Formats: sequence, C-alpha cells, structure tokens
Amino acid sequence: MEDSCLPDYVEKFCLNCGFATRALHAGEHVGQPQHTSHSTAIYQSSTFVFQNAEEGAEIFSGNKQGYIYTRMGNPTVMVLEAKMNALEGGNVKLSSPQTRISSLAFSSGMAAISSTIMALCRAGDTIITGNVMYGATEHLAESILTRFGIQTVEVDTSDLNQVEEAIKAHPDAKCLLFETPTNPMLALTDIEGVAAIAAKHAPEMVIMVDNTFATPYLQRPLELGAHVVLHSTTKYLCGHGVVVGGCMTTVVDEVKDRAYEYIKDTGAVPSPFDVWLVGIGIKTLPIRMEKHCDNAMAIARYLEKHPKVERVYYPGLESSPYHALARKQMRKFGGMVSFELAGGVEAGRRMMNNIKIFTLAVSLGCVDSLIQHPASMTHACVPSDKREKGGITDGLVRISVGIEDVDDLLGALDDALATV
Ligand SMILES: Cc1ncc(COP(=O)(O)O)c(C=O)c1O
Repeated sequence: MEDSCLPDYVEKFCLNCGFATRALHAGEHVGQPQHTSHSTAIYQSSTFVFQNAEEGAEIFSGNKQGYIYTRMGNPTVMVLEAKMNALEGGNVKLSSPQTRISSLAFSSGMAAISSTIMALCRAGDTIITGNVMYGATEHLAESILTRFGIQTVEVDTSDLNQVEEAIKAHPDAKCLLFETPTNPMLALTDIEGVAAIAAKHAPEMVIMVDNTFATPYLQRPLELGAHVVLHSTTKYLCGHGVVVGGCMTTVVDEVKDRAYEYIKDTGAVPSPFDVWLVGIGIKTLPIRMEKHCDNAMAIARYLEKHPKVERVYYPGLESSPYHALARKQMRKFGGMVSFELAGGVEAGRRMMNNIKIFTLAVSLGCVDSLIQHPASMTHACVPSDKREKGGITDGLVRISVGIEDVDDLLGALDDALATV
C-alpha cells in the first residue's frame, strides 16, 4: 500500500497479515498510555487528568494531543476504531496520500447511521436510500429526517438502471445509502456498480453501505468503491448479544470530521466497556462467520426442499437471483436466512411458538440462533403496503443462524415445521 498514510499500527497489520490476524491484533493498546496488561485496558472514566493548567489549555486548543473527556475521545474506544480501520480499510487503495481511513464508534447502529447522515446534510438537502432497509432506518428517513427538511428518494439499488436514473435525477443528493444484503429480504446490490455510476454522474455523492449483515470478513465495501461503511456492532461484530453499538468507517476525511463534530455535540458516544466487549467479540469474528455461513447454507438447502416452505431467500442458493453477485463481492453468503411458509402468517406463528433451540427474539448475529417475524417485529414500523411492496409479507420468517451443531438446528426446524 505504497500510497497510504495509515497510522503505523494499521500499516503493520494491513501490509502483511490476513484478516484473522488483524481481527486479533490490530489496534490493541493503541492510544493507551501504559500497556503492560495483555488484554486491552478498559478506561471506564468520564474525564481525564491534566498534569497542570498549561497542559489542559494546550490539549483543549489542539496544540497537544491528549484525552479530555470521554464524549470527545477515550483510549478504549480508540482501540475499536483502530481495529475497524484495519478490518474495513485494510486493503483499500487510497486515492491520494492525503486520504486516510478513519472510524468513529457510536452508541448504536442507528446512532452511526443517523449521525453520519445528519452530519452531511442540512435543511433542503436530498438523500437517496435503498427501498428495503432495516425498519428503524426507513422510519428515520420518513419520519425524522423530513422534520429537519431532509427529503429521501427511495430506489431499488439491486437494479443498477434504477440507481442510474435516480442519481441522474438527483445529482445533488448528499449521499446514497443501502444495505447489502438487505434486512430481511437478503437482496444484494452491486457495490462496485453503484460506485461507478455515482463517480460518473455525481462524484461528490457519498456512497454509504450498511455492512451489518455481511461484516468485513465477508465483504469490504470500501475496497469496492464505497466511501462510508456503517455497522450495527450490536450484531456479528460483538457476536454475543451483550452490547448495543455502532461504527462508521470512511475514506473521506470530511465525513469523519463532520461526524466527529456532530457526535461530540449531540452525544451518541458508546460506553468504554461496551466497545471493549465488541473488541473481544471481533477477535473471533472470522471463525464465527465461517460457522454461521456453513450452518445457514445447510439450513437454506434444507428449507428449499421442504414441502411447507414456499420460498427461501438466501444469496448462497443457486436459485437466488443474487447468487452470481454474492460470489463476486462476498467471501461467503452470511448467516441470515428468510423464508415464506405455505400457510402464511398463521403457519409462521405456529412455527415460532413451537421451535426449540432457536430463541424467539429480534436482533441477529449472535452465536446462538434467533427467529423472528419481520412484519410484526423488526419492520412493524414500516407501513404495511410498503412492506408488501418490498416483499416483506405477513408470512415471512427471518432466522439468524447461530453456530450450534447444524444437525441440532435442522432437527429443531424439522420438528417445528411438523407442527405447522
Ligand atoms: C441492517 C441493520 N442496520 C442497522 C441496525 C440498527 O442497529 P442498532 O440496533 O444497533 O441501532 C440494524 C438493527 O437490527 C440492522 O439490522
């Protein structure tokens, strides 16, 4: 990476090491004044001590580096941010020596998404988003951003022709945000294709990818031309269902600077303990993702053949319209599977009430398997006609496949489907 100006600790791990090594080592102890403990320390402190009044003034004025107050920066939070730089940005070809990769941790995935959008926009601006997204992201666009005079244009980003039309119609839109794979339909968008279209018609437009479902282990949008990657770290990155958190990684300095200013003054910063837990989770991300993906593939194949299942949504299946694209831009196909039961919502309810091992709960990316009903749970805040249009029917069931023994999961599904 001859033309990068990544900090030393990122360079060290980006140049020579594979993803698993980076997940374990990158960022550890960065910015921590003393590091004799093997485990990264948790600086569970709201404020930091100055040696004297002069030093305090120097740090406040920006003439000297140092910690002030956890809303403005914290050594434990910095470790997670450095790790995310290495994972999302490790192999990015930077456009100029002035470009750098930077990350900001947030108190939730929604804080990362909303803060990044708000930091970029002002009243009168337009943004473009995918037409199927996590329910709260859709609600944010429709009900919150509109109150601040920010309009949203929706487009099916899995269709590059529609993307081109939308960008040509709104070349001044501040950003284009989409999930790939989408929650809960597992539709994919060609990240490289979108980035190329935007570069041609609207080079200033910030391309933002919510990479929560894939994780950087499976897909790295910045390498494919996106400018911003967003995460709910609540999910696979933490992996154990013990934290609500978010992160934004970008190759555009201005995005980082504006988002930092925004979070500093609006306050959606994470707790040091929470980011420490996410950092611990990331250490096992590669091996967890391998197992999530293998189990999900086996389950998708099983469901596809089951007579009570009408349709399975999983990009790993050869029957998926997104299979070729998934092979192109993802390492494997992820741990999320959605499916439609022949008996509609009643059948889904019976199945969810009778299934063993799978826990009936929203969220995803935990080591254990979860099952939920998008129409009445994660996407209940999306109007029903819009849900139906996006394919989120009342009979759709979404599972987050865990890392249990796959035969136990298949057995649990078999027993539950027998009750339908
Ligand atoms: C794709 C996606 N993005 C963002 C979020 C929001 O994350 P959080 O719940 O951490 O705010 C979720 C939550 O489920 C999600 O699935």
